[in-house]
Amino acid sequence: MSLRLMTLALFVWTLAAVSSAQAGDVDAGRRKAEPCAACHGADGNATIVGMPSLAGQPAWFTHWALIKFRDGRRKDPVMSPFAARLSDVDMADLSAYYAAQPPRRRPQAVDAAKAAAGKELASLHHCTSCHRPDLSGQNQVPRLAGQDLEYLLKLLRAYKAQTAGDLEGLMTQAAQPLSAADIENLAHFMAISPASPAP
Ligand code: HEC
Ligand code: HEC
Repeated sequence: MSLRLMTLALFVWTLAAVSSAQAGDVDAGRRKAEPCAACHGADGNATIVGMPSLAGQPAWFTHWALIKFRDGRRKDPVMSPFAARLSDVDMADLSAYYAAQPPRRRPQAVDAAKAAAGKELASLHHCTSCHRPDLSGQNQVPRLAGQDLEYLLKLLRAYKAQTAGDLEGLMTQAAQPLSAADIENLAHFMAISPASPAP
């Protein structure tokens, strides 16, 4: 791993250690998630193509994503208005609820040859050192395993183009060496991976 990446990876753990994330209430989160179900699925496993699943995401990742949508660091015309209305307590409760839901791999057509090439790239580019070897995510690093293919492609292309507002630019940095073909192969690998829950 390059020195720069090691520094970044270390930063993630340090940030995780110092963040005193407020523990959310899962039952309150279930009620508050009702308006989210139309897009993200009742249990956080979305079925609409291009829509991210939230089930099994580390709570800190979801909480950070919601903060970024609320303060405009991350923008999406469909999603941003929903985050604008949430309080910090709402975000903690929603994050705890989704973290507690078992993730399921999306039923989607995935190219096995591309996925095999993507598996090699994921270790070559150290994706697995932050996202974990089974891509289940941890702390502020999201679960990727079994996520929607179109969504994965969209986000990776945005990180490469430096238009995705990510926390401290870690992912933007990680995406810079990737070619368009690498992105395609990596997305197929992530999409085909079994969606085991985060530890
Ligand atoms: C009308 C559809 C819709 C509704 C309702 C909705 N969202 Fe979203 N949400 C989206 C879309 C589209 C994205 C992807 C945005 C992007 O591409 O950056 C998204 C992204 C997210 C993400 C980031 C996921 C990731 O893996 O990066 C989180 C977290 C999230 N939504 C939480 C919520 C919560 C909590 C609610 C309810 C309060 C909610 N959403 C309601 C459409 C919706
Ligand atoms: C230094 C740690 C680190 C490395 C290395 C890394 N990532 Fe990430 N990744 C993150 C973090 C942190 C986020 C969340 C960014 C945010 O939204 O603030 C993320 C987000 C993502 C997302 C968006 C998922 C979602 O639901 O929003 C994808 C896709 C992704 N990474 C794929 C990869 C791939 C492929 C690689 C290897 C080329 C990689 N990552 C390497 C830390 C890393």
